Amino acid sequence: MLNIRRSNTFQHSALGILHFDPFRQAPRYMNPTDLIELVEKHGQQHLLAHWSKLSPAERESLEEQIRAVDFEQLEKLRTGESKTVDWSETAARAKSPPAVRLQDAAKHAKEAIAAGEQALKAGQVGAVLVAGGQGTRLGFDHPKGMYPIGPVSNCPLFQILFEKLIAVGRRYGVRIPLFLMTSPATHDETVAFLAEHGRFGLPEEDLVVFCQGTMPAVDRATGKLLLAEPGALALSPDGHGGLPAALARSPAASIIRERGLVHLFYFQVDNALVTMCDPAFLGHHILSGSEASTQVVAKQDPAERVGVLAEIDGKTQIIEYSDLPAADAARKSADGSLELWAGNIAVHVFDADFMLRMTAEAGGLPFHIAQKKVPYVDEAGKLVEPKEPNALKFEKFIFDLLPAARKTLVVEVDPAEAFAPVKNAPGSKTDSPDTVRAAILAQHARMLREAGTSLADGVEIEISPLFALDAVELAAKLGQGAHLTKTAVLK
Ligand code: UD1
Repeated sequence: MLNIRRSNTFQHSALGILHFDPFRQAPRYMNPTDLIELVEKHGQQHLLAHWSKLSPAERESLEEQIRAVDFEQLEKLRTGESKTVDWSETAARAKSPPAVRLQDAAKHAKEAIAAGEQALKAGQVGAVLVAGGQGTRLGFDHPKGMYPIGPVSNCPLFQILFEKLIAVGRRYGVRIPLFLMTSPATHDETVAFLAEHGRFGLPEEDLVVFCQGTMPAVDRATGKLLLAEPGALALSPDGHGGLPAALARSPAASIIRERGLVHLFYFQVDNALVTMCDPAFLGHHILSGSEASTQVVAKQDPAERVGVLAEIDGKTQIIEYSDLPAADAARKSADGSLELWAGNIAVHVFDADFMLRMTAEAGGLPFHIAQKKVPYVDEAGKLVEPKEPNALKFEKFIFDLLPAARKTLVVEVDPAEAFAPVKNAPGSKTDSPDTVRAAILAQHARMLREAGTSLADGVEIEISPLFALDAVELAAKLGQGAHLTKTAVLK
């Protein structure tokens, strides 16, 4: 058993470096005995195993991290005491949700688009981009938004998303503010990258970057917190469900109020085909009086890694793919189609009032627990790279807000036009950079055809959102009957 010697800290203090020791300089560090008692109380003494080797700054930062931990909550989560949802039992009761299917959406498109456009023109719409994830599946060691994805231009995901937003703003004669959530894992690089590229043209006042919180990873057998380094806990982002709390901690919540925003268009950093601030979707949301709406695509295969929208006890909710038992995913309706067909593409419209109301209740969102391989520094100071999942990670999901909404809406969209996520490493069959580039080129080829433009064989055309957002804008720029003979980026 680890023996923490209380005298360590005091010895350190007595060594004549006191003067420079933050423990002595900052009043909150005046009583380090507290810290030892705290870790002993929770059986976490190993966190101070390397204390004597840490610099004053490392000690300060480790202490800050330890003091921020809610040990009781973590232990309850690990032991299952605070498990709030039994997903297999819940999934058994889940039914197909009421939804605006593609045919209905098309029937009411005119009316919906008019309502959405009116809200856009009135400056009532803001955009929320969640980009705090670590993107481990992609195997890219930077924030995912920096991934070069343009099929001809090689431009990064952020550029496509930012240009779409700027283009929609121009079309409706307004400036649409972007609230961009990062995490400690992505914040600094994201901010530096966006600054280096002049925010891809988005005015400085229209970009609010704020950082989400973290949760410690714990050893799944013992509940011991893991150290990523001798002086740092293994922390990971607390899930996009950390959004309401992060909004409230940052200036974002007051900016939403000051700018009079009514609707927040929410999207993920990985979806290169997102229909930015989709007027039809906004319109359906507004006309139905929904507080939280979700775009879905019809699942083709039960094993697809998308959450499903389902009606459970009269409320529309999302069951994440990792929580959905395979038998329920495969359940069929009488006509032979998947009963839980509505695949979440993580594009939402939230009423701003609803989101701001939720900032007060965000603590109430349940944690989802995932077993992961988390490297850690052991008590001998050696880095251990586990081969099997050794740890539990805790995340909140934004869509767990849905049951709190007074009314929700589900709208089906065509995946070819609205959903191409970058998730998996190059070469993977689904959701990889290759499939996304192909989806972008296919969409742009359709736009060109619709605009009356033809392409010579083998020619690939990428269209910058700032050049044209749709076939009508494209026809206005290129004129009827154009013939393109060289691979190019229209910008
Ligand atoms: C997500 C959805 C899934 C949906 C799919 C569609 C969740 C839990 N599941 O799955 O229902 O069908 O997208 O593409 O979201 N993020 C943060 N902070 C975090 C974690 C993630 O901002 O702490 C952001 C990521 O940067 C990314 C998005 O959330 O933009 C999705 O995260 P990811 O973990 O990739 O979700 P998926 O498993 O792909």
